[in-house]
Amino acid sequence: MASRLLLLLLILPSTLARQDVFNLVLDAPEHPPAGQQVVDANYQSYSIEFSYMQDYAGNNTNPNKFSAQLLQNLQDISGAYPMIRAGGSTQNRAVFVPNQTEAVILRFSHPTDDQPAGLTIGPAWMQAFQQFPEGTRYIYGLTFYDFNDTLIGGRNGIDETVAEAELAYGAIKDDLFAFEIGNEVDGWTCTSRRPCNWTVETYVAQWQEYAAAIQEHLNTSAPLIQGCVFEAPSHIGFNATPFWNVENAVRFGMNASVAKTLADHDTNSISCQGAAGVSDVFAAALWGVDYVLYTATLKVARLYYHMGTPYRYSAWQPINWPNTNTTRGVKPLYYGNFGGGKQISVLVNETTTTVYGVYNARSSSLEAVVVVNLEGWNSTQPAAERPSISVRVPEHLAHGEVRRLTAPGVEIAEGITFMGQYVDDEGIIRGDEVVETVVDGVVQVGAGEAVLVSL
Ligand SMILES: *[C@@H]1O[C@H](CO)[C@@H](O)[C@H](O)[C@H]1NC(C)=O
Ligand SMILES: *[C@@H]1O[C@H](CO)[C@@H](O)[C@H](O)[C@H]1NC(C)=O
Ligand SMILES: *[C@@H]1O[C@H](CO)[C@@H](O)[C@H](O)[C@H]1NC(C)=O
Ligand SMILES: *[C@@H]1O[C@H](CO)[C@@H](O)[C@H](O)[C@H]1NC(C)=O
Ligand SMILES: *[C@@H]1O[C@H](CO)[C@@H](O)[C@H](O)[C@H]1NC(C)=O
Ligand SMILES: *[C@@H]1O[C@H](CO)[C@@H](O)[C@H](O)[C@H]1NC(C)=O
Ligand SMILES: *[C@@H]1O[C@H](CO)[C@@H](O)[C@H](O)[C@H]1NC(C)=O
Repeated sequence: MASRLLLLLLILPSTLARQDVFNLVLDAPEHPPAGQQVVDANYQSYSIEFSYMQDYAGNNTNPNKFSAQLLQNLQDISGAYPMIRAGGSTQNRAVFVPNQTEAVILRFSHPTDDQPAGLTIGPAWMQAFQQFPEGTRYIYGLTFYDFNDTLIGGRNGIDETVAEAELAYGAIKDDLFAFEIGNEVDGWTCTSRRPCNWTVETYVAQWQEYAAAIQEHLNTSAPLIQGCVFEAPSHIGFNATPFWNVENAVRFGMNASVAKTLADHDTNSISCQGAAGVSDVFAAALWGVDYVLYTATLKVARLYYHMGTPYRYSAWQPINWPNTNTTRGVKPLYYGNFGGGKQISVLVNETTTTVYGVYNARSSSLEAVVVVNLEGWNSTQPAAERPSISVRVPEHLAHGEVRRLTAPGVEIAEGITFMGQYVDDEGIIRGDEVVETVVDGVVQVGAGEAVLVSL
């Protein structure tokens, strides 16, 4: 591939720039590299913090139409609804109370905390899994309490897990893609959750026991459980021997005959639910475009961006949240979440410039390139001075269409548009579509912008 890629990086003062001088000349291969995976239309999916699932989806009397619209927009563009994983730290703390009338009761130690310290769910909780557009599929997070945990009223932990699984299986039915038993269990060694001899090996053994109990109770032999929900690079697990990773989990028996898929967690744009001014501004959308395209070139079958009602790094906030005085709305990351159904390859991988080739999976031919200019640009700087790179696109895209993702600056959340359009307060895409054309085989990409150039 390298020999077919001609990359000229000419750093010139702008005064010297001439029409026939380009910062980048792309000569993309006609076909993707051999063996490159084909990513699904819903390659880019979402993970919703367990405790906030009703906020995001609503219930039978109050469906969250805003969230449903945002998911519909993505289906309209990519052809599939994102998958929804309901899980996270709060899945570990959830307790099923069969006679609770409320769907969920959240108990906060401090009202401005990102997550409740405890939560109980009742049967009405399952209404949240009936509100997103039909065809949405779910991964459902279960607890992984140890035997006779006092938090679950002295009940046997495995019975609690099976009871939760039964509730979800009966309600979500065919839309249930998988269960997950426990979240980020590699951090549990020597905590209130597990003793100091908790290793990836003892984890897999106990996971198998819980998985078998669920399958026996639900009378199904199909691998139904997603295994291996580790945080990487893991906290306590980082120095552990054997190391907490997918490879070792498979080696100890979490293989394809018992596990449906394996999940690994890396933090979103920044850990601990994101940072204000970093995860909730336009820069996060550019990062999101780059990150999802990059992982698509690896052996990663699906990517789920995690979110929660008050989290900075969410793609959207589903309801007003009085605890932190924040309001319902689309966040910048959402603008970086439009994609799907292709083979992707890396064409340029520089510090502030990345270019991806997008191949049609059926014909294996190049149909688009995405150029991401990660150079910083703030809305406070004079717009007329915003620098750009000139990119000469591959010959057969020389008359291609250009769709631009831009904003006045990367440090703000306002004024973001993709091909001239924005998402309004109801989640509806507004504004006239602006499709530019490649001029003389060249496209300009400003600092802090991304473009999609397609046939
Ligand atoms: C729910 O069930 C528990 C355990 O049987 C019982 O102690 C509690 O009083 C019940 N609560 C209600 C509201 O019925
Ligand atoms: C349904 O949602 C509304 C609005 O959030 C809430 O007030 C109501 O308690 C919910 N219903 C149940 C059964 O929890
Ligand atoms: C792990 O530690 C716990 C508590 O200290 C103990 O009960 C259990 O037997 C130990 N398990 C193994 C396999 O050594
Ligand atoms: C898969 O793991 C199970 C135990 O979970 C084991 O019995 C089986 O031999 C393993 N299969 C392979 C191919 O390693
Ligand atoms: C939210 O606004 C109210 C009313 O202005 C104020 O009393 C409260 O301190 C604010 N809370 C936070 C977390 O900013
Ligand atoms: C891109 O560059 C990074 C940093 O140098 C490197 O770790 C990574 O392997 C590169 N990826 C590709 C596909 O070239
Ligand atoms: C851009 O904004 C960020 C965040 O406010 C700030 O840290 C940075 O110094 C600004 N840079 C310029 C060139 O204005």
